[in-house]
Amino acid sequence: MSEGAAKKEEKPRKFQAIRGTRDLLPPETVLWNRVEQTAHEVFGTFGFGEIILPVIESTELFARAVGSDTDIVSKEMFSFTDPANVIRTLVQDALQAGPGVDMGNFEQTSQSSIEGKVQFISLRPEATASVCRAYIEHGMQQLPQPVKLYYRGPMFRRERPQKGRYRQFYQIGAEVLGGSDAPAIDAEVIEMVMTFFDRLELQGVQLDINSIGHSADNCRRGYVQKLKVALETVQDKLGPDSQRRIETNPLRVLDSKLESEQGIIATLPRIADHLCEECAAHYAAAKHQLEMRGVLYRENWRLVRGLDYYMRTTFEITAKGLGSQNAVCGGGRYDGLVELLGGPPTKGIGFAIGEDRLILSLQESGKAPAQQGRDVYIAWMGERAHATAIRAAKDLRKAGFSVELPPVEQKFGKALGQADKLGAKYALILGDNEVSEGLWTLKTLADGSQEKLTEPQLLDFLRKS
Ligand code: HAM
Repeated sequence: MSEGAAKKEEKPRKFQAIRGTRDLLPPETVLWNRVEQTAHEVFGTFGFGEIILPVIESTELFARAVGSDTDIVSKEMFSFTDPANVIRTLVQDALQAGPGVDMGNFEQTSQSSIEGKVQFISLRPEATASVCRAYIEHGMQQLPQPVKLYYRGPMFRRERPQKGRYRQFYQIGAEVLGGSDAPAIDAEVIEMVMTFFDRLELQGVQLDINSIGHSADNCRRGYVQKLKVALETVQDKLGPDSQRRIETNPLRVLDSKLESEQGIIATLPRIADHLCEECAAHYAAAKHQLEMRGVLYRENWRLVRGLDYYMRTTFEITAKGLGSQNAVCGGGRYDGLVELLGGPPTKGIGFAIGEDRLILSLQESGKAPAQQGRDVYIAWMGERAHATAIRAAKDLRKAGFSVELPPVEQKFGKALGQADKLGAKYALILGDNEVSEGLWTLKTLADGSQEKLTEPQLLDFLRKS
């Protein structure tokens, strides 16, 4: 039986997008584009350049950077091995072994080289690790420092889907790498994201900041030790997740949203009381720098963030209309990360905005366009008018107007109804009379008023409207 015949016998089957993923459709995509365009504009004014990164990276990059005990790496990554790489390894082995190879021996060597070379790959759950990898890979430490980069695109985490939480979601992020760790940099990065939200007229924006101290020095380690001891004394009052975290990552207990744990957490030692002199001075200066920029903030000693690379400044921004998943941006300083990934000692700070949540919040506050709309719907009648309509559509589109040109002739009433349904602003009426007179009728659909215009007058009218 031919392949074609076998295909025909297959029953039709409907498919749906995979759990936690979704299609973004017009007119919503108009808002997505507007948001991204605004990011290009605002970030550009702060001197950031766009970096476009791969969606797949080595699994180990995230295990090292984000931390193998974090939820993201231990539970949520979509990871796989690269089968092509396995096959390449086998072929290379066979070629190297040459003719007359002892097969027993060959199998053994292949087995060991596969184990050594097989690549574990993950769909990226975040992009800070990738930006640092790229900074090192392209020797960006040779460029004038700091290097300021921003990115946007899909990220993947196997989380339980709900409103504002998806398995494929989108981030717009920015990172500053190299140069100094001056608190003015922390403040300027935060000022940039607040300016972006302001430009989009995002409602109910609340910025929370904290300092989680220095990772290598005594302040953070000393605090975590104290926190651990305090947690052990209340261990039996905590839920299973927090109990586990006392061992794996005590700071994350502070993140708990469990109602029953809130009273206990309020009594725990606070990091602000345990910062070393340098970290305390850095935090105070970062706050002062925010004030100089007119950025309003709230201090939140429980803001620790769920990724291992952070130190000193951490921040999160929430917005209106998002329910429990209300963090629309998270970020912080990560001075040791580039070094951990094999690069030179490098300062780093950045943030990522959850674009899905940003869009949701904008929609909830009525900032979404109802329809994609058209500027002009061309209602043409007759063959001669069709030729003129095609030319008019070309000229109007060249001048930047969006034009709907129906492919077949319609009755006048139907054409106007269609123009209305598509949300067109104007209907350009082209019949035999209009074509021979050289005077075209332009109907404003909102109020029904009509103008008779020559072709150049039409462009002029539309440009001024
Ligand atoms: P993050 O807090 O894991 O940080 O994610 C940043 C933002 O991405 C969150 O505040 C949220 O808006 C959005 N987000 C995260 N997970 C999901 C999801 N499953 N569905 C929808 N939105 C989600 C980072 O990713 C760090 N790389 C940020 C950073 C950059 N820190 C320094 N530089």
